[in-house]
Amino acid sequence: MNGKVTFDSAPPPGTINFGVGQPSADLLPVELIQTASADFLKNAEPEDLNYGERQGDAGFRSSLATFLEQEYGVQTPADSLFVTAGNSQALDFICALFTRPGDTVIVEEPSYFLAFRIFQDHGLRIVSVPTDENGMIIDALEEVLNRTKPSLLYTIPSFHNPGGHSMSADRRIRLAELSLEHEFLIAADEVYQLLWYDRPPPPALGSLADRGNILSMGTFSKILAPGLRLGWIQTSSGWMERLLDSGAINSGGSLNQFTSLVVRNAINLGLQTAFLLHLRETYRRRVEAMDTALNKHIGSRAHWLRPGGGYFFWLVFDEGMDTMALRARADDFKTGFQPGANSSSQGALNNCLRLSFAHYAEHDIREGIERLGRLIRSQS
Ligand SMILES: Cc1ncc(COP(=O)(O)O)c(C=O)c1O
Repeated sequence: MNGKVTFDSAPPPGTINFGVGQPSADLLPVELIQTASADFLKNAEPEDLNYGERQGDAGFRSSLATFLEQEYGVQTPADSLFVTAGNSQALDFICALFTRPGDTVIVEEPSYFLAFRIFQDHGLRIVSVPTDENGMIIDALEEVLNRTKPSLLYTIPSFHNPGGHSMSADRRIRLAELSLEHEFLIAADEVYQLLWYDRPPPPALGSLADRGNILSMGTFSKILAPGLRLGWIQTSSGWMERLLDSGAINSGGSLNQFTSLVVRNAINLGLQTAFLLHLRETYRRRVEAMDTALNKHIGSRAHWLRPGGGYFFWLVFDEGMDTMALRARADDFKTGFQPGANSSSQGALNNCLRLSFAHYAEHDIREGIERLGRLIRSQS
């Protein structure tokens, strides 16, 4: 590491801030991208540098479809895939196309805090539905649907940010049915679908695209490198036509032509599959390290679900705990986390906190959790 600041709000040297939800530098695959880029450029044709198809390069979509079929274990037609510049861009794009200011979006409680910002940018009214260890509580959703008419429902079905849980298979199917019955659109953020460490989660909502109003968003940010800003939307032919009709897409073509061609070669060379296996092994060890350290240093002061995938532990303390106040003192202990209230659209959950294990190796995880334990004990 050369000490270069590579992202906003990077922790000061010596601080172990589990609030950072990004991969550590040793997991950013420079050599892999060099190999895939060289392989692409060696045979590149001038037209590769044009805008490309609105839906995204057909060769890339075909490679992506093969990769997803192998990982999902279900048929994934290349025609059901639309290339994006990652899930944040995809969500913003979906809001721009399918909502109007003042519309309602349903979210899970808790949910991904930066998605709230995107909904605010579009003037949407946020209504939340509670979750349990099987994801969004569908009975509670049905109650909300009886009195609200949302345009959009945003969910993170697998290895939730921040909750760590996954939505059960039967809830996914019921959710798809409800989107037809109540005529709303599901924006499924399937960012962690492939990042499982014990066993795969239930099938992606993308694979249910023909059974509901579903736009399933996937991204290479978590399985290859965030800086690529490359992702996809999987959907049915009807919704695909609506995406392709957008003004932004018609002004040019593919949202990410060059990068998608590099990643096409990474997939075709088998590099993506091998790297995903490496990530799973690495993160599995980090989950183990964090779980063990939490048991040792936090113990019965909080409870948590050991995540089977994704990036996060979600710690729940007694109601009296104020994690915002705790965070204000965390720098003194050279540790850090995301206070739970950030993940609540209702200003609640201040007795919870989110820890990411993606940004630190095991020895730093052990050290950082020991510091967190001292911080918590200093408060009581
Ligand atoms: C739930 C969720 N959605 C989206 C993103 C960002 O995805 P992208 O980098 O593809 O914009 C993240 C990254 O932390 C995330 O956790």
